[in-house]
Amino acid sequence: MNQNDVLIDVQNVSKSFGDHDVLTGLSMQVRRGSSDVILGRSGIGKSVLLKSIVGLLIPESGSITVKGQQVIGMKTRELNLLRQNIGYVFQYAALYDSMTVRENLEFPLRKHMELSEDEIEERVVEQLRLVGLEESIDKMPSELSGGMKKRVGLARAIIAKPEIVLYDEPTAGLDPITGREISELIRDLEKHFGITSITVTHDLECTRTVADTIYILDNGTFTYSGSFDDLQRAEDPLAKAFFLGIT
Ligand SMILES: Nc1ncnc2c1ncn2[C@@H]1O[C@H](COP(=O)(O)OP(=O)(O)OP(=O)(O)O)[C@@H](O)[C@H]1O
Ligand SMILES: [Mg+2]
Repeated sequence: MNQNDVLIDVQNVSKSFGDHDVLTGLSMQVRRGSSDVILGRSGIGKSVLLKSIVGLLIPESGSITVKGQQVIGMKTRELNLLRQNIGYVFQYAALYDSMTVRENLEFPLRKHMELSEDEIEERVVEQLRLVGLEESIDKMPSELSGGMKKRVGLARAIIAKPEIVLYDEPTAGLDPITGREISELIRDLEKHFGITSITVTHDLECTRTVADTIYILDNGTFTYSGSFDDLQRAEDPLAKAFFLGIT
């Protein structure tokens, strides 16, 4: 891979909590414009990896560069600048509970960008339409179902049009139809806006729709990587388990 095409470069990263080694020398390279998917059992370290990429967790060793900048050891100010370019869909919606849906969506726009009130309004409505929640614009998060909160979290992650989006289980807890719509949205964002993404999921349909490259995480490193078609033919026991729906 041409190094100029690599937007996220994770090299030999290790992260432990006490004596629990979660990541042990993990590496991956994410090409500009690609949508990569990470599979793996619950508690194996998928969310830890995503959090490390945006500097929310700090690995003990290794290197993580995003757009050529070293994230490990980066100062808060630079991290904040870098994060303007990264949308993050948290596994558990993580909305601001005291703000309406509209205010939740306005937040990244007011924080990072100089937009007029009309432009802000337009963007908020556009994003809510994209996730099918225009009607909920003035609701509080407590009035929404889990799946609705998830969709608001997704709209908020992409509203500032980041170059990179990290999705942590974007379809978990959604009905199959909404889940499929979200997966298609992730794919369309890649196609139409060139967004580079990493998606953590346990969802077969989401993986099929979204993935350019699929990685399987186990025992601290990636034990497998390949396309969806490759994965279907793979002898890897975790790949087989994934297709049987038992991961
Ligand atoms: N802040 C933390 N402090 C201590 N341990 C942590 C912390 N964050 C994660 N861990 C531990 O790291 C391991 C990996 O957690 P992680 O959340 O990455 O799992 P996961 O692969 O995302 O699982 P799931 O599919 O259930 O979301 C778990 O054993 C978890 O308890
Ligand atoms: Mg997780």
